Amino acid sequence: MTERSCLSIILAAGEGTRMKSALPKVLHPVAGLPIVCHVINAARANGGEIAVVTGHGAEKVGAAVKDFAPEANTFIQAERKGTAHAVLAARRAIEQGHDDILVMFGDTPLIEVAALEAAREPLKRGVAVVVMGFRTDNPTGYGRLIEDNGELVAIREERDCSEEERRIKFCNGGLMAISGEHALALLDAVDNRNAKGEFYLTDIIEIARDRNLRVVAEEVAFENVLGINNRVELSAAEAIWQQRKRREMMLAGVTLTAPETVYFSHDTEIGQDTVIEPHVFFGPSVTVAESVVIHGFSHLEGARIASGAQIGPYARLRPGADLHEKAKVGNFCEIKKATIERGAKVNHLTYIGDARIGAEANIGAGTITCNYDGFSKFFTDVGPGAFIGSNSSLVAPISIGSGAYVASGSTVTEDVPDGGLAFGRARQTTLPDRGRQLRERLSAAKKAK
Ligand code: UD1
Ligand code: CA
Repeated sequence: MTERSCLSIILAAGEGTRMKSALPKVLHPVAGLPIVCHVINAARANGGEIAVVTGHGAEKVGAAVKDFAPEANTFIQAERKGTAHAVLAARRAIEQGHDDILVMFGDTPLIEVAALEAAREPLKRGVAVVVMGFRTDNPTGYGRLIEDNGELVAIREERDCSEEERRIKFCNGGLMAISGEHALALLDAVDNRNAKGEFYLTDIIEIARDRNLRVVAEEVAFENVLGINNRVELSAAEAIWQQRKRREMMLAGVTLTAPETVYFSHDTEIGQDTVIEPHVFFGPSVTVAESVVIHGFSHLEGARIASGAQIGPYARLRPGADLHEKAKVGNFCEIKKATIERGAKVNHLTYIGDARIGAEANIGAGTITCNYDGFSKFFTDVGPGAFIGSNSSLVAPISIGSGAYVASGSTVTEDVPDGGLAFGRARQTTLPDRGRQLRERLSAAKKAK
């Protein structure tokens, strides 16, 4: 059997007023990725073409979509006249004639590809419309699925429901699969004679039945159709997403000692046998190889970590941190745009920015790369096997040769050659007995007051 072609239409024109935000609703992030991009990801995994309908904030939403999914076509719904009207904004895409049309909402980030596949399944048997339904004890606000003898006969929006219909707990999740053969004819037959004066996509159920076409409802888990309307729902979606990701990570061989305290980004990648202790946060673009240990309370973003590395507790890896095999970055250390080569140690209270720390080098406690003069950033190069004594400042641009030593407490402003030793501190002056004399003078002055 040849594969059926599919067009996914993602509706993202709504205003989202309840978010109370200058940012369009569908651009709010879940796990660091805009909600609408999660929906695009599911559509991508399902395969076929993608159309995104924008309206409110069309410029911003369109730009985000182009950036994330250049293959998607965007359509503008200039006026919001309802979900059927929104689908028809993508008329040109529908007219190309696909076997299956999937209608998805741009505000449901937890939609899974399995639900999309389940929705398309009945179309193969000649069903014209498939509606994704879910059961809930609190159906307020959702369209109710009205069934008769196991068949779907109508979807009634809450404001158009009778008392009895309002008690139905089987609800419309919003997602639909429509046979491409019938889609345009059904959508064009929708009118706006209802309480809201909108063109409801849901009306195609009754229209299809009037034309003796088959309509079914498929039940899915609520999460799949959880739509985000406000920031409380946004946090609920985030929580569910994180739970899914933690489970996926653990099943793939990553140890999370307190999974509920670890936060991943949409693109976090972690290798087998890596151990993540409690309270670790991953921002975007972090890749961790195998057998790494990330101790508690570490914050990572834009970092690449090779196998056997150890991080934290309380480490901060910022974009461009590149840790090679067995590198160590310890407590209260910040690494930015810097390579820590194989086996190098940056263990305590240190800032390393715009730098290379050579293999097996040892960076003492409190070392700071002074990389910024208020205008530009400069590079610090520390050669392999070098030893930087505690509480040193390396004033960039600067290079410390391989195997070189920097004495503790140095402010280093000149390059140190391979194997050299640099002292960059004032010589100590010690005055015998002067401490006792000082104490006596101060205490006499206090008594005289
Ligand atoms: C819709 C369904 C309802 C279902 C619920 C599930 C209809 C008529 N109602 O109601 O049965 O229970 O979703 O969450 O379909 N949109 C546009 N352009 C428009 C109108 C809407 O793009 O002109 C987009 C919105 O951005 C949103 C989606 O369509 O992503 C759903 O619209 P919304 O107004 O939220 O529909 P509900 O009233 O929630
Ligand atoms: Ca909604």
